[in-house]
Amino acid sequence: MRAVRLESVKVGDILGTSLFNSQSELMLAAGYTLTEETIQLLRKHGFKQIYIRDDEFANLKPLEVVTETVRKTVAQRMTGTFNSVEEQLSKLPQSPIQLKKRLTEDVGLFNLVPMGEVEDSVNNLIGEILEKNVTLLSAIPVKSTSGRLYQHAIDTAVLAILIGQQFKYGFPELQSLGTSALLHDIGKMALGELADKHRNEMTFQERWLMREHSTYSMLILKGSDPHSYIEQQTVLQHHERPDGRGYPQGMRGLNVAPLKQRAAEPGYIFRHAEILAVANAYDNLVSGEEDGTSHTPQSAVSSMVSLAGQAYNPHILRALTKAVQFYPTGSEVRVLNTFSGEWVGYRGIVKEANVVEYAKPVVLMTHDDDNIPIEPEEVDFRGERAVYLELIL
Ligand SMILES: [Fe+2]
Ligand SMILES: [Fe+2]
Repeated sequence: MRAVRLESVKVGDILGTSLFNSQSELMLAAGYTLTEETIQLLRKHGFKQIYIRDDEFANLKPLEVVTETVRKTVAQRMTGTFNSVEEQLSKLPQSPIQLKKRLTEDVGLFNLVPMGEVEDSVNNLIGEILEKNVTLLSAIPVKSTSGRLYQHAIDTAVLAILIGQQFKYGFPELQSLGTSALLHDIGKMALGELADKHRNEMTFQERWLMREHSTYSMLILKGSDPHSYIEQQTVLQHHERPDGRGYPQGMRGLNVAPLKQRAAEPGYIFRHAEILAVANAYDNLVSGEEDGTSHTPQSAVSSMVSLAGQAYNPHILRALTKAVQFYPTGSEVRVLNTFSGEWVGYRGIVKEANVVEYAKPVVLMTHDDDNIPIEPEEVDFRGERAVYLELIL
């Protein structure tokens, strides 16, 4: 099986995985032979990449982090949640300034989000992830753009939970992080039709208005559950940056690992929000939400890594590369372990990213295990049974 961009799919290609529409209903089953009409249909539904069968890559299966059943249950609950929030908000004042005033002043009156439903969804996702002990995501996301707001919510939550796990988050913390991830953009519902517009189509003024969405998310959460202080702060801060150039408060980041013992400090981004920021940005890049083109995991990770320390906490970026198992070309890596025991402790530059097995790139070794520079030596990890690399940022 291999992933192909929809433009390159040909009539007669055989579908590798089943495809679901934005309501998570089965559209086409795995094994289906594609026709001109079905390819058109997929285009209409916003699919950008699909898996097709290919003898050469017969053993390569996309890794499913969350089974379709759980995804479907969560998707149904989340559609319900998003729709009911949208409906209730439509009864409130339409001008953003008035709306903000109402939400701020009468916060207790707006119990918009059925928190129990959200909690069940998060528990489902965490259960799946912990049970399967998954540490990586399918490298190439396949999904449709319709209904993207709640799909984005689910994908961001899964990625955030996978990252949180790497920092030894306990169950209550994963729950809090997952809940915040599912609801981080719920405030966009308060922005009416602006929420349906693509970033590229927005005017300068509309983009500015869009920046209010994290504040709305916080207010909606506050009204729905006054005790959700941590989640409120997490959603409020998901567009903050370590260099202080984020919004809405221009908080700063310490660029240290988001560990539990790290206390929340006034003026500094809360650790859950830093994880959410990374998961959110990655999903926006691969889904095409960010700039209209859907990035490959390689280009998404590369562009994020180039902003390490400025836009994203480097410790969390390192965890992201483990979750999506990707080492971009030109990045520096350290060999943590290999199946053969060779090259452990060495460091080098990724010469060629491996598009079939993401975890096994070609590395140009530059330093030995005592950190002493060596004559560069090319190591092709494709032949190795298991390789554990760490991105040096
Ligand atoms: Fe957002
Ligand atoms: Fe988002």
